[in-house]
Amino acid sequence: MRIAFASSEVFPFAKVGGLGDVSGALPKALTSLGHDVKVFLPRYSAINEFGHHIEYVHQVGEMPVRVAGNTHTTRVFKTNLPDSAVEVYLIDCPHYYHRKDYKNTHLIYTSQGDEDERFIHFSKAVIETIQRLKWAPEILHVNDWPTAIIPLLLRDNYSWDRFFDKTATAITIHNIGYQGRFSKDTIYKAEIRPELFYQNSPIEVWGSFCFLKTGLMYSDVINTVSMTYAREITTSDYGEGLQGVLNYRINDFFGILNGVDYSVWNPDRDPMIPYRYTRDDLSGKTENKKYLLRYFHMPFHHGTPVIGMVSRLVGQKGFDIIADAVAELLQLPAQFVVLGSGEQKYEDLFELLHHKFPDKVGIWRGKNEELAHLIEAGSDMFLMPSLYEPCGLNQIYSLKYGTVPLVRRTGGLADTVMDWHEHFGAQDGTGFSFYDYTGPALVSTVKRAIETYHHRDAWHKLMLNGMAKDYSWEVSAKRYELMYHHAIAKRK
Ligand code: ADP
Ligand code: GLC
Repeated sequence: MRIAFASSEVFPFAKVGGLGDVSGALPKALTSLGHDVKVFLPRYSAINEFGHHIEYVHQVGEMPVRVAGNTHTTRVFKTNLPDSAVEVYLIDCPHYYHRKDYKNTHLIYTSQGDEDERFIHFSKAVIETIQRLKWAPEILHVNDWPTAIIPLLLRDNYSWDRFFDKTATAITIHNIGYQGRFSKDTIYKAEIRPELFYQNSPIEVWGSFCFLKTGLMYSDVINTVSMTYAREITTSDYGEGLQGVLNYRINDFFGILNGVDYSVWNPDRDPMIPYRYTRDDLSGKTENKKYLLRYFHMPFHHGTPVIGMVSRLVGQKGFDIIADAVAELLQLPAQFVVLGSGEQKYEDLFELLHHKFPDKVGIWRGKNEELAHLIEAGSDMFLMPSLYEPCGLNQIYSLKYGTVPLVRRTGGLADTVMDWHEHFGAQDGTGFSFYDYTGPALVSTVKRAIETYHHRDAWHKLMLNGMAKDYSWEVSAKRYELMYHHAIAKRK
């Protein structure tokens, strides 16, 4: 199968969260199944191109792409996913993709006034690049709101091109909380027919033009990244207003759990951690813990667990209940290390705690790929009390690193972490979980975990159970393959 995969993040080039990890890994797994996959990504100034071989694609040449009435000359550059044959096409248009914030940090997403135009440009450029490559995909797979209007453009604006007649489309929802809602003017910028915009139309939500809804209505198939989240977002509690659309498309809607790229996340061969370790020899893990604490200028105590967090600092990730519970959490015999960036109020909260309790709370603000690996390797527990979590990757990484996850039972967290006490009989639990989104529920779970930590045999078993789990992409990539067949059958 020829598969075009469009994403606004692709690891290791551009990553904000899990979407980047998935887009850097799933295409490789599909290639291993024998498919011909090409990945498309904007050439952001945020990309560190050092160490990657990047070449100009002559076949595409100087390509005019029209957005909001202006024509932008667009070039395309080609590289590969590291250690693989998967080609990545970087859509180059400095006007849209060279962006910085006031601190001079390069941005992938912005809150600037032309955010809609940036991804309209990318969407059109993907289609036009494919035309120029004369490479007709059987599947065009888009991800989240930034690429969600591609299926509509393909069926409507570019329907004159018989070249795409056999191309079926798939959309993956990585997070329904981000929908790309813009004013009606945006449809003119994208040259979408105004007749398509009316109350409750396939592209309209509450008077705005909604990229994600457009994707859900025009794609042949839809999926999200865990079974539980797939069920959750068909309800008003989690659907963020799009539950009706998903119920309408229920026969074409799938839940497929994300996999993990164990060539990147594995304590056995992780080049980013100072001490490597395995299930059979965990001694390196303690060394990593000492190293991690030194990194944060915190003391090491035998018998005191370190609880790690690596997260976007946003409401989704459960920081409100952490804030509620903070006084009690700090009473507990544990240390906390946090790596994250996001909303100021959460950064300030941890900064304040660090100043008051420097031996108990460490915070590193910003993005830091290497530290993310060190926290996975050096912590005893990993905390992820998310309000909602489509899949969540860090808890799955944690399992492999013998770092016991403490999670709220929602979305992919519910599908990947088995509570130790609930599975006490079989002794096959892998972590601790709670359901109520409240501070007290969180505190009692952390307490349960700390108590269990002091039963060394039980804890050892917990670690080994998690490390034995296999969430590699092979299984999930086969599910995507089945979904693609469903999409192709529908097109016929
Ligand atoms: P989400 O996509 O909602 O952010 P996931 O758990 O799916 O959540 O994926 C998060 C990914 O982003 C993980 O690979 C995690 O290590 C990474 N990450 C999050 N915050 C940071 C940070 N501040 N520095 C480095 N990596 C981070
Ligand atoms: C999103 C979700 C996260 C998921 C990731 C990759 O950002 O918040 O739960 O793991 O996408 O699918």
